[in-house]
Amino acid sequence: MENQPVLDACCGSRMFWFDRLDDRAVFGDHRRETHTLTDKSSKGGSRELTISPDLLLDFRALPFPSDRFNLVVFDPPHLVRNGRSGWLAKKYGKLGADWRDDLRSGFAECFRVLQPHGTLIFKWNEHEIPVRDILALTDHKPLFGNRCGKTAKSHWIVFMKPEATP
Ligand SMILES: C[S@@+](CC[C@H](N)C(=O)[O-])C[C@H]1O[C@@H](n2cnc3c(N)ncnc32)[C@H](O)[C@@H]1O
Repeated sequence: MENQPVLDACCGSRMFWFDRLDDRAVFGDHRRETHTLTDKSSKGGSRELTISPDLLLDFRALPFPSDRFNLVVFDPPHLVRNGRSGWLAKKYGKLGADWRDDLRSGFAECFRVLQPHGTLIFKWNEHEIPVRDILALTDHKPLFGNRCGKTAKSHWIVFMKPEATP
């Protein structure tokens, strides 16, 4: 890891990447694990889910200097209620009891490691918690966003870190 301009702060299995080995990015997550998931549409009825970050890290305390990245993507877990052993929890992780504090710290850390005028791409699924409750956990003002997914529950929201204040 040298001077990659992009940080994926909780990459999971890198599903949304066109190139899961894109060398412009540092891929971080707090777990390294492999699971076999039942999947009737896959050959043999199952498929592997691999979470293999470049770096084991905690998005609440990112191991990078301030103003380091041009772009940060933050796609934290969105599930509180789903059991830890369920496939959704394996795929997306799960929020803990202190999820408000954890996500507040996650936003603060993503903005800290972004350069001034750097871009934060935030993804949230409203399966359990409305996006407005999550946006209330940061003082930064989003630029614009988009809803997608069959039930329009997934939001992609773009922020820009303001110029450093003296
Ligand atoms: C919604 S998934 C990310 C999915 C990913 N964007 C993709 O395309 O596959 C959220 C990820 O956040 C990770 N995570 C949860 N808490 C974390 C923490 N405190 N620090 C770093 N990663 C964390 C989970 O392990 C999980 O892989």
